[in-house]
Amino acid sequence: MEFGDIRGWIEHLRREGELREVNAQVHWDCELGTIVRRVFGNGDGPALLFNRITGYTEGRCTRFFTGGLSNYSRVAMMFGLPKNASITELVQAARRAYSGRVPPVVVPTGPVKENILKGDDIDLFEFPVPRWHRHDGGRYINTMQGTVTRDPTSGRLNVGLYRGMIGKKDTIPVLLWRPQDWGRDFRKYTDKGEEMPVAFVYGWEPCLPFCASSPIPSDVSEYDVMGALRGAPVEVVRCETVPLVVPASAEMVIEGFISPDPATFELEGPFGEYTGYFGGDRRPRHKVRVTCISHRDNPIFRGTLEGTMPKMLNENSIMSSVQRAALAWNILDRSGVPGVTDVHCPAANNGTTLIIQLRQTYRGQAKQAACAIWGSNAAHVRYKHIWVVDDDIDIHDYGALDWAFAYRVNAAEDDIVFFPGTFGSALDPSTRLKFRDGDLYGTGKWCRVLIDATVNLDFEPEADYNGDRYPRSVKPEKEDWDLVERRWHEYGF
Ligand SMILES: Cc1cc2nc3c(=O)[nH]c(=O)nc-3n(C[C@H](O)[C@H](O)[C@H](O)COP(=O)(O)O)c2cc1C
Repeated sequence: MEFGDIRGWIEHLRREGELREVNAQVHWDCELGTIVRRVFGNGDGPALLFNRITGYTEGRCTRFFTGGLSNYSRVAMMFGLPKNASITELVQAARRAYSGRVPPVVVPTGPVKENILKGDDIDLFEFPVPRWHRHDGGRYINTMQGTVTRDPTSGRLNVGLYRGMIGKKDTIPVLLWRPQDWGRDFRKYTDKGEEMPVAFVYGWEPCLPFCASSPIPSDVSEYDVMGALRGAPVEVVRCETVPLVVPASAEMVIEGFISPDPATFELEGPFGEYTGYFGGDRRPRHKVRVTCISHRDNPIFRGTLEGTMPKMLNENSIMSSVQRAALAWNILDRSGVPGVTDVHCPAANNGTTLIIQLRQTYRGQAKQAACAIWGSNAAHVRYKHIWVVDDDIDIHDYGALDWAFAYRVNAAEDDIVFFPGTFGSALDPSTRLKFRDGDLYGTGKWCRVLIDATVNLDFEPEADYNGDRYPRSVKPEKEDWDLVERRWHEYGF
């Protein structure tokens, strides 16, 4: 669905009763973040537009928007689906969008060019960027932006979402992992002895952060997928100081360059991370040397609260739950794993756990599924633990999973499989800190685990089980159930 820009999206949310405006004065230093934490709740709060932020009640930028995608209803609205669409319907809509391609079109100019700042006029402190948590290493400006880079070999434009904080008035130190798409692009510029041009896009339609934070295959531009998701090409304009393009009606764009020279690095971290823990210790990291800021008149800054914990969900966890299930399902299909009937990532773990439901027709299907997922570049930072269950287990019901785990898993029958020494998350505290050194190893280190909670097809059909591999369950026979259903009121219930 097209919204035009973030203003169109905000108006849509207002009409649907999904927006709350906060007109009380709120401080950017921890107060705003704590309000957002409380409002996001368990994925059931509204989107928020803050209109009065301490120190920013007047000036270049006075408004701050967050939470556009912090519940499933608004993700459904982004896809143009009914607000009560099921999670599986959202996953199917994301699968279709990820498989579509509508390339962007370049237009001569747009609202984002209303103000253009260069040289001494660049001052990142003019924008109401929160310190989200008390123990964050700084004010994180990059939490819900699109990070645009180009593969210098193929020309492919990547749009990713990676954290970054304000360093000086014109620098943004960032966390740049080598397996992520901008890390792959960066390697190519480094090999050529060049700095990497980059543009950060703040505030546009919801499909921008949704696609930017999706592990779409490396050779595909997220701009093409955004076009498919919204059903129309993204209109882009050329940047001022870097050879990149950005949405013409974005609220704000920051352009700059990243050098590979460690002498240019600046202190970054820690940050309240998606794991629910502070992560990425404070150390010198790559920084963006800002060369230009362009923004609309009276721009709305866009950011989001990271850090997921039980009953404390957020935009990343809700989006991840849809994105990472959809991507995994597409990978399973492309790899030829048959019989997949549903795929789910529970929101609280941001895609660290993947649950696959399938109809087995031959032995080893669960292992085939896990191999396909773990061999994909989408598995970086995701899918540490994979469950596979049969199609009689509701993968959205933890009680059902727990029952399958109890009675269909036998570690002595190879139902729990370890895959050690794989790439992992450099932010997952269950890996020792020394093994998560991104500078040394490029990424984290995971021993991945498959829990095969399907009925074991290696078992023989048993006469005691009426020729099946497993005994009958106690679920009432249909005729018994129907009889009781018919007479239910007679029993006095
Ligand atoms: C709010 C938010 C913050 C994120 N922060 C980071 C980050 O700091 N570093 C990172 O590598 N990925 C981060 N991610 C995950 C990436 O956006 C995700 O892996 C995405 O697939 C990256 O794009 P790419 O596949 O084009 O590299 C974040 C995602 C969200 C939603």
